[in-house]
Amino acid sequence: MPRSPGYLQHVEYTGSELTFSGVKLVEIARHTGTPVYIYSGDALLNSLREFQDALAAVDHLICFAVKSNSNIAILKLLGKAGAGLDLVSGGELYRARQAGVAGPAIVFSGVGKTKDEIAQALTYADSGIFSFNVESAAELETINSVARELGRKAAIALRFNPDVDAKTHPYVSTGLKKNKFGVHRSEILEIARRLNEFDRIALKGISIHIGSQLVSLGPLGDAFGRVTNLCEEVNQILGNPLSFIDLGGGLGIQYGNKKAPSIRSYCSLVLKHFGPGTAFSRRNSPFRILIEPGRVLAGNSGVLVTELLYRKRRAKKEFLIVDSGMNDLIRPALYGSHHELLPLKKVSGPRTKYDIVGPVCETSDCFAQARSLPTRIQPGDLIAILSAGAYGFSMASNYNSRPRPPEVLIENGRFRVIRDREKYEDLLRGERV
Ligand code: LLP
Repeated sequence: MPRSPGYLQHVEYTGSELTFSGVKLVEIARHTGTPVYIYSGDALLNSLREFQDALAAVDHLICFAVKSNSNIAILKLLGKAGAGLDLVSGGELYRARQAGVAGPAIVFSGVGKTKDEIAQALTYADSGIFSFNVESAAELETINSVARELGRKAAIALRFNPDVDAKTHPYVSTGLKKNKFGVHRSEILEIARRLNEFDRIALKGISIHIGSQLVSLGPLGDAFGRVTNLCEEVNQILGNPLSFIDLGGGLGIQYGNKKAPSIRSYCSLVLKHFGPGTAFSRRNSPFRILIEPGRVLAGNSGVLVTELLYRKRRAKKEFLIVDSGMNDLIRPALYGSHHELLPLKKVSGPRTKYDIVGPVCETSDCFAQARSLPTRIQPGDLIAILSAGAYGFSMASNYNSRPRPPEVLIENGRFRVIRDREKYEDLLRGERV
């Protein structure tokens, strides 16, 4: 039987009701109201397990990219199942702490770490984090001086900019020379040569992250090859081998027609370059492989349910106005991204093309254009916006003074609220008249 598309892997109609991991979405929507974000714990854990199984032959750490979905219940769930975390801010570090994730399972990425954030990471849960992914020589100096002040030593990886075109949306392409991310090869070698100037730094690895929503493995293979060569050159300068590489995240998911590579094929590529039996693994042993997946774990593990408020007919088209907007899910407005839409109750009969828009006062507040939905769809009907588990709630804002939606987690056929709907008072927190 052909595998269902990625966005449908945990979503299906049972009778006429749309279910998510076996739970009727309408039951949740009735409980919380709309809009509401709903995640499947099973979907998250299944994807994590796929990575764990495929990488079982090597010492590995799968660091979930917290930016993709930062709810502490999700972090705790993944942490308990053996995942580490990839962070980019003090706020995410704080979340990791609340979720009870241990320091040795945490890496800290990001181009603009402040002294405070560096200090928090060095002293995280007393023992500090596993490693910083360092983005410049200047940052290295700052980490060195903060570590000295605190009487600590900082383990680091240098983030390599391999100058590879990830062939994804320019906003989420990070591995080109012109991008702000990473350090160029020559500069990495230069830093390795001057390493003795940094008395509080232990250079242990090389990291990369060339972009997000990659739907072809070609650019990753290219980047992995360049990393292998670079590690070799760095090892020669250091005189002792590095102990890990961090290959970043970026594996895409299927949002619409365009398929994405499977987790298994991605892991095979990783093993082809760095796994047992490779020249790389013979020269670098013992060695650990880190990855930082976000979207591929969370993206198709979440949906956003919204209610149809109004139909609005124009001469050439018809709008469906829903109660969720670009403040809740900004991806379509920001990247022109496609999300499948399914009514919670299956409606038969003819279909019509609609523009599905939100209430926010911007023309960009549009979830889909000319999208086919049942002609008989009516105000009051509920619609699931699929593939909303990554970069959905975590990018939500209060624009137009709209309280952010609640978040719900389904586990073992039951659901619970893991974040309350914001109240009007929440909107004013910290404001003074
Ligand atoms: N590691 C680093 C250093 C990153 O910058 C990112 C994502 C990841 C890992 C995780 O990448 P993933 O596996 O999720 O592709 N808001 C955009 C995506 C931004 C990605 C930013 N960095 C979107 O909604 O498509």
